Amino acid sequence: MRSFTTLSSKWTALLIIAALCYLFTPAVSVKHENFKTCDQSGFCKRNRQYADKATALGSQWEAPYRITPESLSWKNGQLQGTILKTINKQGETVRLPITISFLESGSARVTIDEEKRQKGEIELRHDSKARKERYNEAQSWAIVGGLDVSKSATEERDASRSIVKYGPEGKFQAVVTFAPFGIDFKRDDITQIKFNDRGLANLDHWRPKVDKPEPEKKEGEDAPAETPVAETGEDESTWWDETFGGNTDSKAKGPESVAIDITFPGYEHVFGIPEHAGSLPLKETRQSSGNHQDPYRLYNADVFEYIMDSPMTLYGSIPFMQAHKKDSTVGVFWLNAAEMWIDVIKEKEAHNPLSLGIGSKTDTKTHWFSESGLIDVFVFLGPTAKEVTKAYGELTGYTQLPQEFSIAYHQCRWNYNTDEDVKDVDRKMSKHQIPYDVIWLDIEYTDDKQYFTWDPLQFPNPTGMLEQLDQSERKLVAIIDPHIKNKDGYHIVEELKKKDLAVHNKDGNIYEGWCWPGSSHWVDCFNPAAIKWWISLFKYDAFKGSASNLFIWNDMNEPSVFNGPETTMPKDNLHHGNWEHRDVHNINGMTFHNATYQAMLERKKGEIRRPFVLTRSFYAGSQRLGAMWTGDNQASWDHLAAGFPMILNNGIAGFPFAGADVGGFFGNPEKDLLTRWYQAGAFYPFFRGHAHIDTRRREPYLIGEPYTPIITQALRLRYALLPAWYTAFHEASVDGTPIIRPHYFVYPGDEAGFDLDDQFFVGSTGLLAKPVVTEKAESVDIYLPDDEIYYDYFDYEKYTGQGKVTVPAPLEKIPLLMQGGHIIPRKDRPRRSSGLMKWDPYTLVIVLGKSGSATGELYVDDGETFDYQQGAYIHRTFEFSNGVLESKDIGTKGKLTDKYLKTMKSVGVEKLIIIGAPKEWAEKTSVKAGREEARLEYYAEEGKKAAWAVVKAPKVAIGENWKIEF
Ligand code: GLC
Repeated sequence: MRSFTTLSSKWTALLIIAALCYLFTPAVSVKHENFKTCDQSGFCKRNRQYADKATALGSQWEAPYRITPESLSWKNGQLQGTILKTINKQGETVRLPITISFLESGSARVTIDEEKRQKGEIELRHDSKARKERYNEAQSWAIVGGLDVSKSATEERDASRSIVKYGPEGKFQAVVTFAPFGIDFKRDDITQIKFNDRGLANLDHWRPKVDKPEPEKKEGEDAPAETPVAETGEDESTWWDETFGGNTDSKAKGPESVAIDITFPGYEHVFGIPEHAGSLPLKETRQSSGNHQDPYRLYNADVFEYIMDSPMTLYGSIPFMQAHKKDSTVGVFWLNAAEMWIDVIKEKEAHNPLSLGIGSKTDTKTHWFSESGLIDVFVFLGPTAKEVTKAYGELTGYTQLPQEFSIAYHQCRWNYNTDEDVKDVDRKMSKHQIPYDVIWLDIEYTDDKQYFTWDPLQFPNPTGMLEQLDQSERKLVAIIDPHIKNKDGYHIVEELKKKDLAVHNKDGNIYEGWCWPGSSHWVDCFNPAAIKWWISLFKYDAFKGSASNLFIWNDMNEPSVFNGPETTMPKDNLHHGNWEHRDVHNINGMTFHNATYQAMLERKKGEIRRPFVLTRSFYAGSQRLGAMWTGDNQASWDHLAAGFPMILNNGIAGFPFAGADVGGFFGNPEKDLLTRWYQAGAFYPFFRGHAHIDTRRREPYLIGEPYTPIITQALRLRYALLPAWYTAFHEASVDGTPIIRPHYFVYPGDEAGFDLDDQFFVGSTGLLAKPVVTEKAESVDIYLPDDEIYYDYFDYEKYTGQGKVTVPAPLEKIPLLMQGGHIIPRKDRPRRSSGLMKWDPYTLVIVLGKSGSATGELYVDDGETFDYQQGAYIHRTFEFSNGVLESKDIGTKGKLTDKYLKTMKSVGVEKLIIIGAPKEWAEKTSVKAGREEARLEYYAEEGKKAAWAVVKAPKVAIGENWKIEF
C-alpha cells in the first residue's frame, strides 16, 4: 500500500477505497492487469506469431532477409553491406544497412538499421515532432570502451558466404551466410552461437498507414464507428495506435520492432537478462507445461507487490545473457533501450536414437525482440564465464569501487520521522553495540515532497543530525527522486520549467503526471543542460543542510508515474533531441542515476570523494554509478529465498553491487524470519534493512532475546569480513568478476552445480555460504564441488567429499564453510562503524588445504577518495607453503604509493589463525617473524573438528613484505 500526502480530494477518495481494499485482502500480490502480457503488447504478439508461422512451416519457411554480396565491403575489421528484406510476392524489397564489427577485445558486434528511417524519408502520423531515425544513441549511455576494431581480423568471401577469422590467435570465426541471412559464430571451429538459424529475424520497415477514404455520409446517417483500413494483405491489428488500461499510445512512427533468434547449440543453461524474480538458470517460456507462458520481459517498471518465479518485468533491465555448458561459456548483449521480450526454449537433440539419451545434447534457442531502435548485438565467445563478464565490462564499464562505508550495514526505514528520531536510533545502536554505518531518510524528510528541502517542523536541524552521525564516522543517505513537485513557489520546479529541462509530452509541452508529491514533472537527464543544472542543485550552498557525510538514494526512476500506462510514462512522450520515450525507456533510470553521480562528484571544489548513489532502476552500465536493490519485496520466506538468485544474476550481468530489503519491505516479519534475513543480508554485496511506512519498527535492538544478539553476531560477521568483501569489490572493479559467485562461474566443469542458486562463493576467499531461507530449518545441505577439505567457519568441523553434506543450522548459525587452500583477511575488533576500524589490525585466517598450503589476497585503500588511482593502496598476496607464510606486494607503484604506505605503517597483523594445523605443531610454542619470535598456541583435533593454531602478535605490518616461519 502506498502512502500519498498532499493529494486532491479525488485522490484522497481513491486512497481510502484502496486502503479499505488492502485491509480486506489477506495476501498481497501483483496487480497483473496493470502490466501487459505478451498478447497485449502489439510487437510481442506480432513477433511470436511470426515465430509460430516459421516454426509451423519448418523447412518450407523462406526467411525474407538476404545480404546482397555486391554490397559487401571489408575494411578495418568491419564488414559492411546491405540486407534486402523482401516485403511482398512481387519481390519488392527494403534496404537494411548492416555492419559487423570485429573488436580488438575479441568481441563482435552486429548492427542493422533501416535506410529509409536513417535518411528521414518517412512520414510521422498525428503531427508528431518525434525523430524519424531509429534510436541510435543507446551506445552513448551504455558503452564506455572496448570499441577499437581488430587489426588482425581477416575476411574471405565466396558467392554464398563470408568468413571472418578474429579473436585471440584467430581462434574465433564468424560465418556470414548471405541468403537467407545468418551468422554462425565459432570458437576452435565449433559453432557456439547462431544468428537467425530459425529465420525469425524481423525488422518492421516503415510503411504509411493507408486509410480508406471515408465513405460518403448520407444525410441523417451516423458516421461509421471505425475508420476502415486499406487491404494490405497483412494483419495490421498490432501496427498502429495501441490502447492499454485507458491510455492510448499514438505510435506516430508506426510499427518498428526488431527481432532475431539466437541459438546456443549444445548449451543447456542460460543465465542473465535481469531483473526478474526467479531462478538463476532461465526457464523455458513456451511449449510444455511447467514453463513460463510469457517471454522474459524487460521494460523497467514499478511493479507493485511483485510475484515470485515470474518472467514479468521489474525495475531494471540488463539485456546480457550468458550460455553455459561444461567448460564453456559464451554470451550476447542486446544493446537496445526499448521495451523488449525474450523467448527461451530448449531442444534435446539425441545424436543416436539407439544410445538411449547417452550423448544427447540440448540446444537453447532464444528469440529477442524490441519495440523500436536498432538490432545491435555484441557476441562474446568466452571460453570462460570470467572472460565473458570481463569482455562485457570492457564495453559497459566495471563496478565502481565503492566507498568502504557503503559495503557495511545500512539502517533504513520509511521513515525516520524527525532529526531527533535519527539521533535516537543512532544512540541506541551504539548503546547496544550493534554496528552500522549509514542511516537513511525516505521521502517524508522533505518539506511537502519537495526534494532539496527539509520539513521545517520534523527536521529543523539537519546539520546537528549529520554532526552527531559524524562523531562515529556514520553517514546519512537521503532520497531524491526524479519527479519534481508541480507547485507554485517551489524554486526547483520553477527553474525546471523556466530552463525547459523536463520531459515533454507528445505535443511538445511539459509532461505532467502523478507521483509521491501529487502533480509532478520529470527532469530529463538525457539533456546535458539538465545534468548540468542537476549538478548545481547538490552544491552544499544550494542543498542547505547537506554535508559531506550525506549521500543519495535515487528511487522511482523507471520512471514511476502512478497514473501513467503500466505505472510509467507514455511511450510517445518526448525527450531531449525529440527521441520518443519508447526508444529510451530502459535507459531512463540510468540517466537520472548518472546525473546524481556526477552531482556527487562536484559538491565542493577540492573535496572529491567517491559518490554513493543507490538506484532502483538500472540498465547495462549502471554498475559504474553505484548500487541497486531489488525493490519492494515482502516480509515472507519466499521473498527471502528469492533474493540470492536475483543478486547472483545481477552479478553475472555485470552489476554485482546488489541487495534486497532485509526484513522485507511490505509486512511485519516474524522474529525468526527477520533474524534469518539479517544472516542472509550479511552476504548481500549491498546490505540494508528497510521497511514500509505502515510496518512496525524493527531496528535490531528492538527484537529482543535471543534474536537481537543473533542479529548482532550476523552484523559483526559482516564487519569482521569487510577486508575480504572490499577485496572482492576491488576485483569486480578491475575485471567485472562478481562479488558473490554462483557455482557454474567458479566450477565451470562441474555439471551438478550448474543449477545451484542458493549457495555461492564470496569473492576469491573460498568462503562458501548457504544462508538459511526456509522456515524452521535445523540444517541445510551444501553441495561441495570438489574433494578439498571444507571447514565450518565457526567451529572448524570438517566436511569432505564431492557432493552434498549436511551442515547444522540452528537459528543462531549461518551455514558457512571455508574451502581449504585459502587465506581470509579479517578485522576482529567490534566497533560502532567501519570508519572506526580504519586503523585496526588484521587477523589472517589460514585455511590449509589437502596439500597443506593456502593463498589469499588483500586489497586496502583509504576507502573514500580516488587516490587509489594514483597508487595509494596496498595489494598483497599471502602464501603459506612448506611451513612459511609470506606476504608479497602485487600492486603497481604510483605517485601516491609511498605517502599512503607511510600512513599505514602502524597497521599490522594481530593474529594468525591456522585451520587444519599439522599434528607436529602440538609441540611448537613459537614461530619466527623476522628477527622476533611470536607465541603459537595449538589446539588438537576434537572429534570432527579440525586441529588449529593461533599465532598472537606476530608484529608484521600489513603493507610490508615479510615471512613468518613455522
Ligand atoms: C518505493 C521504494 C521504497 C520506498 C518508497 C517510498 O516504494 O521502492 O523503497 O520506501 O518508494 O519512498
